[in-house]
Amino acid sequence: MPLPHDLLARLDACVSVIRSRAAGFSPKLGIILGSGLGAFADSLEKSVAIDYRDLPGFPTSSVHGHAGRLVLGFRSGVPIVAMQGRVHFYEGYEPWQVSFPARVLCRFGVKHLTITNAAGGINAGFKVGDLMAITDHLNLSGFNPLVGPNVEALGPRFPDMSHAYDPALLEVLRAAAKGANITLREGVYVSLSGPSYETPAEIRMLRTLGGDAVGMSTVPEVIVASHMGVKVTGISCITNLAAGISQTKLSHDEVSETANQVKGTFTTLLGRFLDAVAQKV
Ligand code: HPA
Repeated sequence: MPLPHDLLARLDACVSVIRSRAAGFSPKLGIILGSGLGAFADSLEKSVAIDYRDLPGFPTSSVHGHAGRLVLGFRSGVPIVAMQGRVHFYEGYEPWQVSFPARVLCRFGVKHLTITNAAGGINAGFKVGDLMAITDHLNLSGFNPLVGPNVEALGPRFPDMSHAYDPALLEVLRAAAKGANITLREGVYVSLSGPSYETPAEIRMLRTLGGDAVGMSTVPEVIVASHMGVKVTGISCITNLAAGISQTKLSHDEVSETANQVKGTFTTLLGRFLDAVAQKV
């Protein structure tokens, strides 16, 4: 199904269900937690969890490691909405559906969206378990979630992507990592449609093109948030070395296992970062 003409009404219907479950809750910050990284949402206080199945139009995931809950709660008194799990294009959803939840968070009123993912490391200097601040991306997925009639009420037809990953917030993320003594890599995230992992030749190509990490998510969410004028920060967890660099066969189990091992560091970094961002928005 192409982008529906009543996208705005669908977003508002979804937001109103969320509001009905958490009266008066007005989120400042939004966060999307990728494969195996959902634990952070458990640290939110006074939280309310809503199953994606209860949200009209919200696509539900079939992938192991993606819980599929929206968690509304507080961190140091700051209202935050967290997505525990997301859907991907490779599951068979349309680009506008893949990005629908990110649009809902923006419509719900977040001023800033932190988007996280599990990714394969292309940069030869990266190690398994590293965290990488996304400085920019290469959209090689073959699709763009804004294709279709533009909804002027949401944003412009041709949104600028020069600073898709907000430079000032990147600086805040760097400082948060430094303060917590966490090594933070930086680099360009490449998005492909998946679901097959890349071939070694594809990884050599992506490295030549300037990619540092590769994954199958994030970019649609970054594009719709940018379209709606919401500032974005991206963090990749390098769960494996990309094909051809890794000596072993790639598997989703390895991705989940690494994400699970990094959970503590990731939660610390995210917490410190969000506390610092909350002072600014
Ligand atoms: N390639 C694509 N997506 C991924 C990878 C990878 O190596 N690791 C985690 N997500």
